[in-house]
Amino acid sequence: MTSDLRRHLFYETSHSPALADLVGYERAREIIDFCFIANPYYPTPEMLADLQRNLPNLIKSYPSSTPALAQGHLASVLHVNPDHLVIGNGATEIIALINHTLIDRIAVPIPTFGEYNEKIQDRRDAELYPLDPHQRYELRLADYVAWVRQRHLTALLLINPGNPTGQLIPLDAMVAFLRETKDMELVIVDESFIDFAGDPIPSLLPLADQFSHLLIVRSMSKHCGVPGLRLGYCYSANLYILNRLRRFLPTWNLNTLAQYFLSLLPPTDAAYHVSRKRLIGDVRALYDALRGLPALEVYPTGANFVLFKITNGMTATELQRRLLEEHQMYVRDCSNKIGMDNLHVRVASQGREQDARLVEALRILTR
Ligand SMILES: Cc1ncc(COP(=O)(O)O)c(C=O)c1O
Repeated sequence: MTSDLRRHLFYETSHSPALADLVGYERAREIIDFCFIANPYYPTPEMLADLQRNLPNLIKSYPSSTPALAQGHLASVLHVNPDHLVIGNGATEIIALINHTLIDRIAVPIPTFGEYNEKIQDRRDAELYPLDPHQRYELRLADYVAWVRQRHLTALLLINPGNPTGQLIPLDAMVAFLRETKDMELVIVDESFIDFAGDPIPSLLPLADQFSHLLIVRSMSKHCGVPGLRLGYCYSANLYILNRLRRFLPTWNLNTLAQYFLSLLPPTDAAYHVSRKRLIGDVRALYDALRGLPALEVYPTGANFVLFKITNGMTATELQRRLLEEHQMYVRDCSNKIGMDNLHVRVASQGREQDARLVEALRILTR
């Protein structure tokens, strides 16, 4: 395994390299990928068969040039105003667009999802708010707002639940925070993992029309389990924000397969929520099992992944390497995230059976 691992790829990106890039497509099937933070229970097998049946036609067609249909399908499952949605080729496209069209200077708590601070026009315009490792990288809203005001910033980012921490800020605290920051120009709340935070989903979406400074960003890779289709969206009641984003969005930014997938959402919404709740149960079981390992300090999570710190002297890079080479498991070494030390690993649930194998491998490697 060691010899043919494309190890240099680890140094070329601040994201973890895709498993298939590292070891090839064939080999990737033999490895359990715990970096993959996506719902393993959705799309349903019937949806995948449907996509497969339609693939030849979809590949041979142009996508729709108007986003209205896609927005309609998505809005009907989110129960929101379709005109307030902008759908992107993954949330990453939306994030790049936000950074280029809306932002001069913005507060970004770190460690974070790298696109927010890396894709800003001039990296110096992302004012990094370092979270304290001695407080488990926990974001405290009052401290954050005070810091933002002290620097005279009028735009800020918040990821809830946080990535890579998994920290969930409760809905009532988020609402109070939005009231408190009403004078700001832009508050971006990335809720890519919120569907795994509980039931009912503690999202700001149903309240978003009350806050004109709020822009919600969500990746569908995670909650819908389709990272390869490239789907994400943002929602705001602020027409100025929406129009600026739309002006720079490429025509046909969504491919036909992604558009077809969106049309499958309304008839499969019940199955989606079953899958979501099943995964929430799996993550709780994974969290409890990890907490049983003495060499790990496990952080509370509201997402579909768990972050832990290794406390026995082993580094995250060493643990990642040994899991891959000795147990055929791939986990996220978070050492290359700006603002994070070299002791943290993030694992996303892949279902109870696979998760149990991971816990067993961790038990062996950290004893
Ligand atoms: C917080 C957060 N937002 C957005 C994204 C981007 O997701 P995508 O471009 O796959 O939709 C990610 C991906 O990991 C993420 O963690």
